[in-house]
Amino acid sequence: MSPACIIIFLLELYFPASAYVPTQDLSLIDEVTSVTLPVPVGISGTEFVWEWTPHDGRFKKVQLVTAKRSKSSSGAQYSWTKTSEHNIYYTNFDDGGNGTLIIKSKFENAGHYTFKQIQPNSTVLAMFEVFAFKSVPFRWDSVPPGVDVTRACTISRLPESSRLQWKLNGSLSSATKCHYNNTAVIIIQNVDEHSTGNYSCDLLKKETYLRGFYNRLTLKTSTFDSRYTLYRDGANRSEVQLICRSSNRNEMAQWTWHSESSSQSIRIASANRNGPVGISVKGVGQRIRSPVTVYNGHYFPLHISPVVFQDAGIYTCYTDNYVFMSITLITVQVSVEPPGVLAIGDEATLTCTVSGFRERIRLVWLRDDDGTVVTVKEETLSASASNRSLALFISRVDTEQLKWACVVFQESLPSAYFPIEINAEEMQTAFGDPVLVIVACVCLVCLKIFIIALVICLLMKYLPGPVQINPRVDTGVTSAPEEECKGEHSRSGSG
Ligand SMILES: *[C@@H]1O[C@H](CO)[C@@H](O)[C@H](O)[C@H]1NC(C)=O
Ligand SMILES: *[C@@H]1O[C@H](CO)[C@@H](O)[C@H](O)[C@H]1NC(C)=O
Ligand SMILES: *[C@@H]1O[C@H](CO)[C@@H](O)[C@H](O)[C@H]1NC(C)=O
Ligand SMILES: *[C@@H]1O[C@H](CO)[C@@H](O)[C@H](O)[C@H]1NC(C)=O
Ligand SMILES: *[C@@H]1O[C@H](CO)[C@@H](O)[C@H](O)[C@H]1NC(C)=O
Ligand SMILES: *[C@@H]1O[C@H](CO)[C@@H](O)[C@H](O)[C@H]1NC(C)=O
Ligand SMILES: *[C@@H]1O[C@H](CO)[C@@H](O)[C@H](O)[C@H]1NC(C)=O
Repeated sequence: MSPACIIIFLLELYFPASAYVPTQDLSLIDEVTSVTLPVPVGISGTEFVWEWTPHDGRFKKVQLVTAKRSKSSSGAQYSWTKTSEHNIYYTNFDDGGNGTLIIKSKFENAGHYTFKQIQPNSTVLAMFEVFAFKSVPFRWDSVPPGVDVTRACTISRLPESSRLQWKLNGSLSSATKCHYNNTAVIIIQNVDEHSTGNYSCDLLKKETYLRGFYNRLTLKTSTFDSRYTLYRDGANRSEVQLICRSSNRNEMAQWTWHSESSSQSIRIASANRNGPVGISVKGVGQRIRSPVTVYNGHYFPLHISPVVFQDAGIYTCYTDNYVFMSITLITVQVSVEPPGVLAIGDEATLTCTVSGFRERIRLVWLRDDDGTVVTVKEETLSASASNRSLALFISRVDTEQLKWACVVFQESLPSAYFPIEINAEEMQTAFGDPVLVIVACVCLVCLKIFIIALVICLLMKYLPGPVQINPRVDTGVTSAPEEECKGEHSRSGSG
């Protein structure tokens, strides 16, 4: 027996071929779809066990259920493990018959499952990884047109080199997206007909679709009684739509604005049915306008572009002199100090400031380390807080850590996402980096030596004969003088 064969033989002794059982991937959707783990066909053992290691790491591998099979009758007898220690809810699972295991549609049931024969001998027969998806919120109720909508999709474990992606009707949507912890978030600003449809959250492995779920986003026909908050960047050319839409026909409509600084509301736009929309704020130029020229009795939208920090406030739509709906606009400003181009290694301070409208707000600074987002700092500002900003001091600006975002959270979901990229370079000025200065000096010295050598070389070669002024001109005698210096003999210009 050759040594190679002996090694293979020994390996087979230690790792019998039957020990390799591939892991099958399956998925469930929280509160929607369950999954049944099958058992291999043609098994001959009499006693089996299902083992489970949850994704969320609540506990290590546990035995869920043992199944006994008798040769005489078909089917299997299940006996569930009851252990208070691990708080396993055997109500989360069900007997699928013949040894199969039904995993109910609960997010916490995600994890690795093993089907093992324990009698007459012990051997692993099948392995599964069950991924769980969750949609937040679970129900997608119809939303009033104009509102900002956040939807999140979470997976119990994100496999290596894969990612989650939101799509609308099968194509990438233009809405803001952000990722953190196994969660993909989509923030759709000012929803309208163009943002409704089939939103799918797909798990992709290197661009290949693996699995996912979808939900429909639909609109209400009226914005009656709506009260919501919109967040906009007040310094980075953002825009906002204020949508007032009624199913009933009204004779007149108006928008008023109650700014932070003033004690009363002012009228900013008004119209009578079939009449033109009049904008009545001074000094805003074309920033505030209406996308419709004539009010049809139902639809009364306003558009502010670009939004400035001072636009914050409460905007109320009245129809026929009754309050129809209102929108709170909170403006946000993100900045880097010091301004301008920084050098790698510098200190910097990022500041996220929100306009002081009375609302409790959770601000988070996230850092995007090339796709992996980490929470760096967070703070909940109370409604009465005088200082409505969250500053983050960075002691050393790093090339890998230039992308940041200030995120406004409401409960567990982000309502708004304001990215900012630190503009930093390796070197601030031409003489900023000592290494570069040395390299530049060495190069200059080398160049000087080379030029002197070249001149000497030319003088030695051409001194006895007529001085050639431009060696590149083909006189039928030479090629470039550099070649001469290498000691090669020039060929006469035959080419
Ligand atoms: C274990 O049992 C299986 C069938 O149940 C059998 O094929 C295998 O040879 C057994 N292994 C050992 C080491 O006894
Ligand atoms: C169990 O297996 C037997 C024989 O293969 C089959 O007739 C029976 O329908 C199965 N029962 C279930 C619940 O799958
Ligand atoms: C991500 O998970 C970590 C650890 O569970 C948590 O502390 C952090 O708040 C989460 N990030 C976000 C943005 O929710
Ligand atoms: C998506 O499809 C629905 C109908 O299935 C349609 O109403 C909606 O306008 C579509 N959205 C986009 C952005 O094409
Ligand atoms: C929605 O999208 C999913 C995934 O892209 C697709 O499987 C499903 O058929 C679509 N549903 C509708 C109603 O368009
Ligand atoms: C408000 O916050 C800014 C930035 O974090 C800080 O520089 C300033 O000192 C704070 N002011 C007060 C009154 O806390
Ligand atoms: C403005 O927004 C863009 C992305 O939308 C971002 O890259 C940039 O850093 C922002 N600039 C400031 C000053 O916030």
